[in-house]
Amino acid sequence: MKACVFGGAGYIGSHMVRALVRAGHDVLVFDNLSTGHRESLGGVPLVEADILDIAALDRTFEGWRPDVVFHFAALSIVAESVRDPERYQHNNVDGSARLIDAMHRHGLQRMVFSSSAAVYGATPSGLIHESRALEPINPYGESKRRVEALLAQASEAWGLSSVSLRYFNAAGADPGGEIGEAHDPETHLIPNVLRAVDGGVPLQMFGDDYPTRDGTCVRDYVHVNDLADAHLRAAEFLRHNEGAFQFNLGSGRGFTVREVVDAVERVTGRRVPHHIAPRREGDPATLIADTALATKNLGWVPALSDVDSIVETAWHWHLHRRY
Ligand code: UFG
Repeated sequence: MKACVFGGAGYIGSHMVRALVRAGHDVLVFDNLSTGHRESLGGVPLVEADILDIAALDRTFEGWRPDVVFHFAALSIVAESVRDPERYQHNNVDGSARLIDAMHRHGLQRMVFSSSAAVYGATPSGLIHESRALEPINPYGESKRRVEALLAQASEAWGLSSVSLRYFNAAGADPGGEIGEAHDPETHLIPNVLRAVDGGVPLQMFGDDYPTRDGTCVRDYVHVNDLADAHLRAAEFLRHNEGAFQFNLGSGRGFTVREVVDAVERVTGRRVPHHIAPRREGDPATLIADTALATKNLGWVPALSDVDSIVETAWHWHLHRRY
């Protein structure tokens, strides 16, 4: 298949690009490199442009007609979205609207969209099924909810078919060691724990008074290569199914921040210097996926999403990272 990967130089996008290349597909990346890394692409062609740039979208689709568009191009830091909601609306929602319109103009009918568990908001405990009401508690989650709504409208209006994949906590790195997570600033738990282990800044644990088993937040960590595999399956699914679909992607298991720290200590054999800090604004207490729909519809079963494999691959990347 011919694939265009928007946001293909970012963390999850770059793992998607690897998965596509390994599976023998033709890939073009479109990325403004605002948070992505050219070094992650390993020679895959890049259009360096912004999804808000309508002329660049048109030029790209004139020169390259993909069978499927994979859309990862978004800002994704919850705390930043709380500080600057307009920026998240403009970049994530208006940008996606322009991409969807460009697909319409060029007769492109399949998209796999990078959504998030952040669409659910502060849910009561228990596994989260896709039928759960969407009540995001931060502008980042709200931006993903709005894009899912745009995709549903485009399906009704002109037959765009899409799968929105609601990731829980993407983590880990490609076991090959050439690509991995590289955000600046880094806000995610596992890279911050690894940095603390390695003598960097001690970990701040954001809140130990949540209603969870040890007071720290519970998250469902899913390996980034398992996410990429689900996208390949979603593209295949769209060859046989029309409409706008939403599936959760997680491991179906929750770990507290303290349990992640324990896993890092086990895998690295080193202590994690840390202290308790105030709660971080916009953080729900618990997020764990019910992944039955993805398994049923995509035949997806995560293979690398046990917490030790996640930490081992992230640690390998941390020690050998190239960008
Ligand atoms: N945490 C710390 N210290 C840190 C970093 C994180 O204690 O230095 C805690 C957070 O407070 C949270 C947990 O670790 O309880 C996980 O935090 P991350 O920042 O790694 O991930 P989030 O759950 O906040 O966010 C991720 C994605 C978002 C998505 C969200 C919900 O990055 O895009 O999951 O699915 F919206």
